Amino acid sequence: MKILLFGRNGQVGWELQRSLAPLGEVVALDSQGEEELVGAFTDLKGLASTVVKVRPDVIVNAAAYTAVDKAESEPELARTVNALAPGVLAEAANEVGAALIHYSTDYVFDGSGSRAWREDDATGPLNVYGSTKLEGEQCVVRALPRHLVFRTSWVYAARGGNFAKTMLRLARERSELMVIDDQHGAPTGAELLADVTAHALRALLADPRKAGTYHLAAEGATTWHGYARFVLEHARQAGQDLKAGAAHVRAVPTSAFPTPARRPHNSRLDTARLRAAFGLTLPPWQNGVARMLQEIL
Ligand SMILES: NC(=O)c1ccc[n+]([C@@H]2O[C@H](COP(=O)([O-])OP(=O)(O)OC[C@H]3O[C@@H](n4cnc5c(N)ncnc54)[C@H](OP(=O)(O)O)[C@@H]3O)[C@@H](O)[C@H]2O)c1
Repeated sequence: MKILLFGRNGQVGWELQRSLAPLGEVVALDSQGEEELVGAFTDLKGLASTVVKVRPDVIVNAAAYTAVDKAESEPELARTVNALAPGVLAEAANEVGAALIHYSTDYVFDGSGSRAWREDDATGPLNVYGSTKLEGEQCVVRALPRHLVFRTSWVYAARGGNFAKTMLRLARERSELMVIDDQHGAPTGAELLADVTAHALRALLADPRKAGTYHLAAEGATTWHGYARFVLEHARQAGQDLKAGAAHVRAVPTSAFPTPARRPHNSRLDTARLRAAFGLTLPPWQNGVARMLQEIL
């Protein structure tokens, strides 16, 4: 089997290089591309011809414009990367008979209420990033029956910057931290996303009726405030020297930190459909975060 992976250096793309490797030959591209293969999502013609050249059995798209605030001032670029390019990949996949795996976000919803979002709930993005990701899903679903679209939330990885590292740095510098406590979601590890992707891909190839849109996030929910407290408590137990401990994390509303993009208050995702379709268990968010902390501390 041949797999064409886009966005290989992103949080999820990096882990996919690992989890997809046992399934077959993985041709992994970043935005720079390689020789005659194009990885830049701004080059739509080049992307289509790359798919035709590689003739993969499966395309996995981990590339996206993920700068949520910057997207407000670069809506055209965000739309090209998040909507038009995935649409082109889906059309090209159709042409060569490939399946496509694509990632989306809880930001397609408006964040109202407190119930976990189900796949068929009405969408209503609050910002440019969310609107472009929603359009991207729609382009994929319309163009190609053999797709998996995974909507996820609050993605972290040990590699590169992340929320936990920021909290640890601030807790070493300051005696008190202020962290938002009115946004709810589940921190989800890139490792988990990549592992579930590999399992689900095998199931899709065995049974095309598994195609569809699925919510994929770690079990449970917290707030950024709860997440920060968990990180600092874990760090203290690991013997880290911090000025601020878990008790010194002050809860503040979203309005305390104005940002260009509005963010949803409710990012909870109901993962029942995915667990039933693929027979998988999603571990509690604390498991993955604790593991990541062990790696970075
Ligand atoms: N991060 C989150 O909290 C979150 C939450 C929900 C859903 N998601 C979704 O999950 C998926 C994976 O996200 P992630 O967190 O792994 O993202 P990430 O770490 O920000 O990586 C995004 C990747 O996209 C690539 N990219 C950006 N612009 C590009 C362009 N013009 N052409 C080609 N590649 C481009 C980047 O490559 P270069 O570095 O080479 O430019 C980077 O490798 C995305 O679909 C995202 O929307 C993420």
